[in-house]
Amino acid sequence: MKRRTFLNRVALLGASGLVAPELLFGLTGCKEAVEAAGLSVGGWDFDEVIDRSGTYSIKYDRAEKMGGKLPMWIADMDFRTAPYVSDALVGRVKRDVMGYTSIPDKYYEAIVSWVEARQGWRMEREWVNYCPGVITGIAAAIECFSSPGDKVIVQPPVYNSFMQYAEGLGRIVANNPLIFENGSYRMDLEHLESVIDDRTRMLILCNPHNPGGMMWDRDSLVRIAQICERHGVIVLSDEIHGDLALGGRRHIPFCSVSGEAAKVGLIFTGPTKAFNVAGLHTAQTYIPNKELRERFQDYLDRRKLTEASIPAIELTIAAYSHEPRWLDEMKLYLQGNIDYVADFLAREIPAIKVVKPEASFLMWLDCRALGLDQNGLVSLFQDKAGILINNGESYRQGGTGFIRLNIGCPRSICRQAMSRLQAALR
Ligand SMILES: Cc1ncc(COP(=O)(O)O)c(C=O)c1O
Repeated sequence: MKRRTFLNRVALLGASGLVAPELLFGLTGCKEAVEAAGLSVGGWDFDEVIDRSGTYSIKYDRAEKMGGKLPMWIADMDFRTAPYVSDALVGRVKRDVMGYTSIPDKYYEAIVSWVEARQGWRMEREWVNYCPGVITGIAAAIECFSSPGDKVIVQPPVYNSFMQYAEGLGRIVANNPLIFENGSYRMDLEHLESVIDDRTRMLILCNPHNPGGMMWDRDSLVRIAQICERHGVIVLSDEIHGDLALGGRRHIPFCSVSGEAAKVGLIFTGPTKAFNVAGLHTAQTYIPNKELRERFQDYLDRRKLTEASIPAIELTIAAYSHEPRWLDEMKLYLQGNIDYVADFLAREIPAIKVVKPEASFLMWLDCRALGLDQNGLVSLFQDKAGILINNGESYRQGGTGFIRLNIGCPRSICRQAMSRLQAALR
């Protein structure tokens, strides 16, 4: 069916009053058509440009210090936090008394129900535990399950904190580089086995992957689990971008794919990316294997890292126990930004190729055809176009010639970025 006809039919259905706007939106994923029927889906305005100056934002302060660049780097978004999440925080603060707090049952219940409803995985309540942050948790797990001199496998180009904390703790980083093929990446499962030796203790998996936004398929996850289980290697699976699965895709939690995955896997995730509350530092772990879970909890306990703050508890319950309409609509907006940037580059600057993310708000741009060295490439974006980005080389092997662009912002910022880039290349 032609798009115009489809929009007209959805609009007619909406105007008939037979179907509620939310249901119509949920069924069609098409806000444009719902609005054409004179109906509103939610009161959220992702086009609103919010002034973040004076809020101690790392993203904005650095951009300002560098002479007022467009801040499209570090991974937080420029949208307001989901209203029910801010309401929960404000409501709690207004009650004034902020004493030491235990984690209530409904925290665990909200998480278990969310994962079952959104990801189709039924967890036991005991598998879930609070953790102060995903990277805090991964760094703690590196210390808990390995010793200095042991090997930690990563799959570059990948989120730089994995290497930073593993190396900072005296572990040896071993690379199993991703394979770049047909404009996207896959894991090199044949090579993985050859990287493992008797000093290898763990593999850090980024699921979905940052940068690149790949959502790993079930088959690859099953095979990773088989290989790791065979060699006594545990898998730390960072799933912080999982709730930002785009295009109707469903996130697959690593530990859910097989008995082997449940035996070797520890999932680190949290509400901070999807609900844009990164500065509030909260996360959770899902660890089905009792022995690994108890050892890790004991490690955190002995360092007093198991006490959650009041905002952490309130925001997690609010994020996971509401109808996720805000999240779904925000993800449609992100998809619109991705499509806009990808179409613009394909049309106007075809030498820059986009690795289209399947999840999240980070675009990985293949700029190798511009023929610039890495300093020249970063300078093109930052000095000439005035866009603050993340340098592809910080993601290590395979990152040269690439940059990472954060499009979690109003579309007008994406438009400005694209026209600045075009002008800089003229
Ligand atoms: C893959 C990945 N893991 C973890 C983090 C940070 O998580 P946290 O703030 O909970 O340490 C980020 C932030 O960009 C990320 O992209």
